[in-house]
Amino acid sequence: MKPLKGVTALVTSGPTYEPIDPVRFLGNRSSGKQGHAIAEALRDAGARVTLVAGPVAIADPQGVAVQHVTTAREMLAACEAALPVDVAICAAAVSDWRARRVSKQKIKKQGKPPVLELVENPDILRTLSRSKSRPSLVIGFAAETGSLLKNARAKRKAKGCDWIVANDVSGGKGFDAEDNAVTLITAHSAEPWPRMSKQHIARTLTTHITHHLKERV
Ligand code: CTP
Repeated sequence: MKPLKGVTALVTSGPTYEPIDPVRFLGNRSSGKQGHAIAEALRDAGARVTLVAGPVAIADPQGVAVQHVTTAREMLAACEAALPVDVAICAAAVSDWRARRVSKQKIKKQGKPPVLELVENPDILRTLSRSKSRPSLVIGFAAETGSLLKNARAKRKAKGCDWIVANDVSGGKGFDAEDNAVTLITAHSAEPWPRMSKQHIARTLTTHITHHLKERV
């Protein structure tokens, strides 16, 4: 029998794009490869998966309910609509800020560059971790360019999630790559995994999720 049969999962993947005017946006670097691979690994293990995907160039996984969104606020709304679920994994590279005002017309060059006023976007991982219908396991990613473990541990606490998959992105590492070296941080441990493909990371994470959910039964 498939180990995650009867389990529901929510995965965020890809970047968000925050419009500035009809042709420009603020976005993050993210291919969606890791989040999509996690959705596929959970599906293969028998889970019923909702994938909330920002704008990516890769195909929708088969056998997964995919919600396409553009902005962080749309991503949050789609995630909240997918609750309740047993497990949530936030792998999306959400834009932390958006433009306070979105110009209806293309902003033209006017001698001096425009000054953009930014406002903070909702934090989806934090919101899910503190939700009334909190998933029993909430997992985030931490993209760090320095002090990986220290920052990732602090992020786990600040967001209120259970686990953080910490990822060194210094020098552009991790973006659009086929493999990655990550450390799984829980309340009690930090487990470095060897460099492996994003599919392998997804399957290893799925195995950890399966063990964790079994222990709780
Ligand atoms: N995240 C989220 N919503 C946001 C920002 C981040 O859900 N508005 C999630 C990401 O999906 C990831 C985790 O939070 O799982 C950490 O993202 P990261 O970019 O590493 O951290 P930030 O919260 O943006 O913090 P900072 O940029 O200060 O490192």
